[in-house]
Amino acid sequence: MEKGVNIEKGYVDMPIDKNMDIRAAILQLKKDKNALIMAHYYQNNEIQDIADYIGDSLALAQQAAKTEADIIVLCGVHFMGETAKILCPQKKVLVPDLNAGCSLADSCPADKFSQFVKEHPDYTVISYVNTTAEVKAYTDIVVTSTNARQIVESFPKDEKIIFGPDRNLGNYINSITGRNMLLWDGACHVHEQFSVEKIVELKKKYPHALVLAHPECKKYVLQLADHIGSTASLLKFATQSECKQFIVATESGIIHEMIKHNPFKEFIPAPPEDSTCACNECNFMRLNTLQKLYNCLKYELPEIEVEKSIQIKAVKSIHKMLKISEELEL
Ligand code: 13P
Ligand code: SF4
Repeated sequence: MEKGVNIEKGYVDMPIDKNMDIRAAILQLKKDKNALIMAHYYQNNEIQDIADYIGDSLALAQQAAKTEADIIVLCGVHFMGETAKILCPQKKVLVPDLNAGCSLADSCPADKFSQFVKEHPDYTVISYVNTTAEVKAYTDIVVTSTNARQIVESFPKDEKIIFGPDRNLGNYINSITGRNMLLWDGACHVHEQFSVEKIVELKKKYPHALVLAHPECKKYVLQLADHIGSTASLLKFATQSECKQFIVATESGIIHEMIKHNPFKEFIPAPPEDSTCACNECNFMRLNTLQKLYNCLKYELPEIEVEKSIQIKAVKSIHKMLKISEELEL
């Protein structure tokens, strides 16, 4: 390792030449190292713009599973890097900043979850992808917001199911499938923040606008929505719709891609309860910057590691999800 290079801060904090064209330098490093840069829709605009591939959680996992690249740089949050590493244990998986966690994944500590699973031995365990590798190792099948409904419905009506960790997504899936899954009591701090009152005010101001909401939002926000779905599904709906205005109740990073696909439509970010902060931005997702991405590619740090015994178990629950998604052409 080059002298002075460390990840004490969770990322490589090496100075970069101010005169350097950082975009060009990233593209060159990527080419030289046969690396693939993947970004989630919630990333800062400049990261989305330089990525080889932008997608939702399902698409990022699908892409990781089939890439021929030697190095995967996952610009998203930690569990997304872990998912890529679980799927490609032989490859180097890098993230620009290890501090990019997820409040939803944090709301489900592996030791407590495994205890809960042990207390319900006759239950099938379905976990949202926003979980640690260890939680995935205690899981029968992983889901994302794109395929949760179909995967739950692939089980018999009377199947006893534990669904974790997002209570809002779990409640939503229970409501549309008529199931009574046992829910883990977790949530995402960004999606829980959207204000019902402020969305109602926006609907009065923009009477023709349709409301798009991610299923991690609270029930009362979902009741106001014209379309509920994963980030990819919200993007697709906005693109195919005849409507010209949309109120967007998910992390506002998706609006960058929505505008790219629909330059003549208007996208209004749904406001959070607390208007003193940009709470509709995920503070974890937004930790990644071009400088951290450059240093990450240059020094090949920080790298995601997943213990072998956990990888072997977790990969089974992710593979099951990918197989069903492929069969359903999701
Ligand atoms: P998607 O499945 O839409 O990518 O959602 C991921 C996420 O973190 C939502 O907060
Ligand atoms: Fe996690 Fe919420 Fe951020 Fe998505 S938006 S990564 S669920 S904290």
